[in-house]
Amino acid sequence: MAAIIPFALWPCDSCALAGTLATLTGTAYNVDMKKLTLLGDITPEQFLRDYWHKKPLLIRQAIPGFKPLLDRTELFALAARADVESRLVSYFDEQWKMQNGPLTKLPSLKKKQWTMLVQGVNLHDDAADALLRNFRFLPDARLDDLMISYASEAGGVGPHFDSYDVFLLQAQGQRQWRIGAQKDLSLVEGVPLKILADFKAEEEFILEPGDMLYLPPHYAHDGVALGECMTYSIGFRAPSYQELGEAFLQFMGDSIDLPGRYEDRDLVPTTHAAEISKAMLARVAEQLQKVSFTEDDIAIFLGEYLSEPKASVAFDERVRDLSPAKFSESALKKGVKLSRKTQMLYRGKHVFINGESFSVSVKDRKSLSLLADERQLDGSAVAEVSIDVMEALYTWYQDGWLKLGQNAAKFSL
Ligand code: SIN
Ligand code: CO
Repeated sequence: MAAIIPFALWPCDSCALAGTLATLTGTAYNVDMKKLTLLGDITPEQFLRDYWHKKPLLIRQAIPGFKPLLDRTELFALAARADVESRLVSYFDEQWKMQNGPLTKLPSLKKKQWTMLVQGVNLHDDAADALLRNFRFLPDARLDDLMISYASEAGGVGPHFDSYDVFLLQAQGQRQWRIGAQKDLSLVEGVPLKILADFKAEEEFILEPGDMLYLPPHYAHDGVALGECMTYSIGFRAPSYQELGEAFLQFMGDSIDLPGRYEDRDLVPTTHAAEISKAMLARVAEQLQKVSFTEDDIAIFLGEYLSEPKASVAFDERVRDLSPAKFSESALKKGVKLSRKTQMLYRGKHVFINGESFSVSVKDRKSLSLLADERQLDGSAVAEVSIDVMEALYTWYQDGWLKLGQNAAKFSL
């Protein structure tokens, strides 16, 4: 991705930020981690040490009195939209079927054994976004999305495993979960879903609204609705190394610099015209071995890659006709906040937003890392930003990446 650099370039100083983080106020990097009801009254540190990636955790009343953030009708309306990823899974007449959205027609609510899943609800709803942000004791680079499933009586997606960590929060009705740590993860062939061929449950629980089950990757599970139910999945992303490697090579393709052209002034006549000579191989190998990369290249690649919006994400294209001066005036009064769809990350002097990277000065780094961590800046923080950062905020505002105002924190625990 081409990097437009509106900020002054500064020499690499990737560690300087570490010291400032603990002194900044705000939820995102509160180093004094408290016990969280959300995690069953343990600290994020204990959770990460004992459960994350290791073993399941059932948390009764992780969110006491939790009520669905969207009702059934609102969720169905989302599933019907072309810019929202959704799926319908059914098990009618003992046959698994799967249909990708947009879903404009759903089975009767009275019909048993179907489930509708809506991915990325956090991108479309403020309360869903705020709920997801309560999991920011884990880094944004790992947090993926909030998926909501609606199931009719006995609905589910069958016994399966996921490749990612997941928190399964019961939002409405009851769901019975059966889980197991089996090693045999072979799948039933010829069905449109990943269904475990030989699921062996070791534990089972019934989850009520507000209860939450954490499962590490590859942990077998099967959730069946006991009556109409809605379950929220807080999912994580973990790209495969193959995927990262391929994307990195593509990224490097844009930046490698190998001057010169193949030449062979010492060429001698050949009797094997079709053969690639040893000399040719050696010359090319010598040049290609000059391809190298630094930790900085990896940081830029990773930031651009991890902040790239998913293909389905479209930013609000409404015309914003505020002049730069009017924008600054408003931003100073109301503050600014990142759009729900914006992914903003940083590493040292590098700042990444929606797939673009910038190299910034120490002062700009402070403002921008604050914006990335808090996902908003109040008027007094906006008053501190440099002219360069104000220009960038304006561009992002015009692109729909950033809005005027502050988050209402509709769902803060
Ligand atoms: C569901 O909500 O129906 C499925 C979630 C899962 O098993 O990962
Ligand atoms: Co699953």
